[in-house]
Amino acid sequence: MVLIAPSLLAADFLHLEKDVETVNSHADIFHLDVMDGSFVPNISFGFPVVSAVAEIALKPLDVHLMIVNPEKYVERFAKAGASFISFHYEAAGSASGELLSRIKSLGVKAGIAINPDCPVEDIFPYLLQADFVLIMSVFAGFGGQKFIPESLERISKVKAELERMELNDVAIEVDGGVGPANARALKDAGASMLVAGSSVFKAPDPAAAIKAMREA
Ligand code: DX5
Ligand code: ZN
Repeated sequence: MVLIAPSLLAADFLHLEKDVETVNSHADIFHLDVMDGSFVPNISFGFPVVSAVAEIALKPLDVHLMIVNPEKYVERFAKAGASFISFHYEAAGSASGELLSRIKSLGVKAGIAINPDCPVEDIFPYLLQADFVLIMSVFAGFGGQKFIPESLERISKVKAELERMELNDVAIEVDGGVGPANARALKDAGASMLVAGSSVFKAPDPAAAIKAMREA
């Protein structure tokens, strides 16, 4: 089974409520991209937007932290309404294991995210503490980028390692350039959470785009 997580980065910020409502009964999760202009060269939104979405979302919120010093902010995002929080391995380094445990202690699912240029083997030491792994299939920072095909092999590698370690409950989330056209290949490689921004919110029929990914 695959979970579909529309990314609100591609929503219409002037009518965020309308866009949340459009996918509220179709999505499984809402993906919220928090960017600080330092870890990535873009700034998106923070606590107030997460709290506001939490008020109307019928599905759990998945907060993807693209920020330096993520350990400073996980409590506040949990309070704002996150049910899933991921941070980047490139930002937390060897403190990743400890941070995953801290996120879990808040009653939140903990994820470790990794950019396309970082060897996936680098995060293997932290899989034991993770609820999910977020494999970026574009470089973190902007929506609407083209899917990097080599991501499929990276997903398969993580999937194989999870199987080897018998960590069958750890989910693999994929983020960047995901849509109906590559959903089948992503599932076959081992992905179980698909984040999709442009392919949902820029589609003429967002509900149909979600359905197409689910049924791919
Ligand atoms: C990129 C973000 C993504 C982004 C995906 O840094 O992490 O979640 O919203 O957007 P699309 O689906 O348009 O590539
Ligand atoms: Zn994201």
